Amino acid sequence: MQMFGVDVGGSGVKGAPVDLSTGKLSGERIRIPTPKPATPDAVADAIVEIVKSHDWSGPIGVTLPSVVINGVVKTAANIDPGWVECDAARLLGGRLGVPVIVLNDADAAGLAEVTYGAAKGESGVVLLLTFGTGIGSAYLYRGQLVPNTELGHLIFKEQKAEHYAAGRLVKRGELEIDWWARRVDELLEYIDDLFWPDLFVFGGGISKRFENYAHLLTTRAPIVPAKLRNQAGIVGAALAASRGIEDA
Ligand code: BGC
Repeated sequence: MQMFGVDVGGSGVKGAPVDLSTGKLSGERIRIPTPKPATPDAVADAIVEIVKSHDWSGPIGVTLPSVVINGVVKTAANIDPGWVECDAARLLGGRLGVPVIVLNDADAAGLAEVTYGAAKGESGVVLLLTFGTGIGSAYLYRGQLVPNTELGHLIFKEQKAEHYAAGRLVKRGELEIDWWARRVDELLEYIDDLFWPDLFVFGGGISKRFENYAHLLTTRAPIVPAKLRNQAGIVGAALAASRGIEDA
């Protein structure tokens, strides 16, 4: 079965059809720079362009870097504030004329990694953390997602965890990778004390450099880097769409 996934990030809106039997993209991944400002209408235009360029006319899944409840966006930490209280599923469904399932970006990555990637077959508690512009989280138990956990917004060292240890601090040259990893290690210890996961999965751009800092991570629970890399959002969105349609 094929389904279409779209991943809305801070710098790019990316989409492709996904073969759900393998978790692999079954067509070209199309990327459009995220419009500035990234208002709901502007992002919807980009999504429509991507979906139309594939001649796709079935349901789609879309990720946003936000809490999303029943298709309605509740937060906008790193995107345009115009998204708050926007019924994204209705907006996009109306523009495309197909059912649209909308979910948090880290939740999508978590679904993808537990189904096809680094956490495949893990039957206990999995915590996926994405380190990028912010810190995203996905909490899964026996493959089932508990959505919208937002661990990047935990208050840690008197600030939001994502301000203390986001991957962007390294990307922008504000922090050496070793120092960043030490901060992450402190944060993981705190998260481990609260959630006691069986496995941590590291996602986001900086997970590509996992080998460079893995030796600095001392947490009890094992840590593995994400496998699907920059496709996790698209694949997870497609997966969520297929499940959302089944549930409807
Ligand atoms: C947002 C999350 C999102 C994460 C990664 C955070 O700032 O609150 O919803 O998953 O960034 O994009």
